[in-house]
Amino acid sequence: MALMRGLRSFSVLGTNYAYSYISSQVIPARTVSLMQPLSKNKEITITFIKANGERIKAKGEIGNSILDIVVNNDLDLDGYGACEGTLTCSTCHLVFSKDAFKNLSDQPTEEEIDMLDLAQERGPTSRLGCQVIVTEEQDGIEVRVPAIINDARQT
Ligand code: FES
Repeated sequence: MALMRGLRSFSVLGTNYAYSYISSQVIPARTVSLMQPLSKNKEITITFIKANGERIKAKGEIGNSILDIVVNNDLDLDGYGACEGTLTCSTCHLVFSKDAFKNLSDQPTEEEIDMLDLAQERGPTSRLGCQVIVTEEQDGIEVRVPAIINDARQT
């Protein structure tokens, strides 16, 4: 994980957190969480299926977003997560199986649905990976990465 350099830890009400104070270089905000628990949550595995059929397995922790998992594993998904989770690009579009979609912990917000409307290959089981927080239910799921990753900020 890309969170080892430039960190200070502190504790609030018994929960440990890390604070990044990196000053000598610019690091994209999505690679450094300012408030991230140091204790490890249970791990899950997600398989990303690229348009060319390549399957990439990645581990994440319960409580991560799928965008966190892509970034923390440095996955080769060109253009994925361009807005760093600020819900302005739709490049984190993923297509879930019906069962996996049904077991997601929440429903998309109006803002996510608006952004999904701008994604290519949108289907009834589409979600934005930056908005999906994984739970134990997502352990072992497979998600399809659309062939076209559309950055809504450029349309
Ligand atoms: S990363 Fe841009 S909308 Fe999800």
